[in-house]
Amino acid sequence: MAVDAIKLRRSVRKYEEKEVTDGDLEQVLDAARYAASWANKQGWHIVVAKNAGTRAKVSEAIEGNPGARAVGQAPVLLAVCMDPEASGDMNGKPYYMTDAGILMDHLMLAAADLGLGTVFIGAFDEEKVRPILGVPGKFRIVGLTPLGHPAKMPGERPRNELGDIVHRETW
Ligand SMILES: Cc1cc2nc3c(=O)[nH]c(=O)nc-3n(C[C@H](O)[C@H](O)[C@H](O)COP(=O)(O)O)c2cc1C
Repeated sequence: MAVDAIKLRRSVRKYEEKEVTDGDLEQVLDAARYAASWANKQGWHIVVAKNAGTRAKVSEAIEGNPGARAVGQAPVLLAVCMDPEASGDMNGKPYYMTDAGILMDHLMLAAADLGLGTVFIGAFDEEKVRPILGVPGKFRIVGLTPLGHPAKMPGERPRNELGDIVHRETW
């Protein structure tokens, strides 16, 4: 997979009603377990919400976010929750956000490899989502993603050229 999934993945914000098979869902979730984390702390939990009522409530709680409607449309919602204490920190760098990002990327790439869509939704009021998903207070809800069959695949978003971002030997 690797490079194909990396290059073909898009943030999908329109989904078909079609179900995600249990096998595909488990494959996506299992890929997450292999994500790298600071000192292998694995301070993560994933809430899997399929219930349409729950998804509708989350969609409403994050209203205004470009991904809000997709949460109601796609048959599965995944919420990546991190325990900052368990994830640890070093030299003033808390690692839970980094670890959550890697975990989410594993989920998104595994989904893309199966022809499924995702979109990392990071901009929302955690305290509105927390009671809906029953996430305990010590966990940060870092990201949400719908998981489903894309109704529309967006085009490739612009990317910086290597020459603009890579500094060989020294900056
Ligand atoms: C940390 C993070 C937070 C994001 N938050 C949101 C969000 O709240 N809502 C949304 O619709 N997209 C969100 N995105 C998706 C980005 O807008 C998207 O990845 C970017 O425009 C590049 O497009 P692509 O993913 O199709 O390559 C987020 C992405 C990342 C990595």
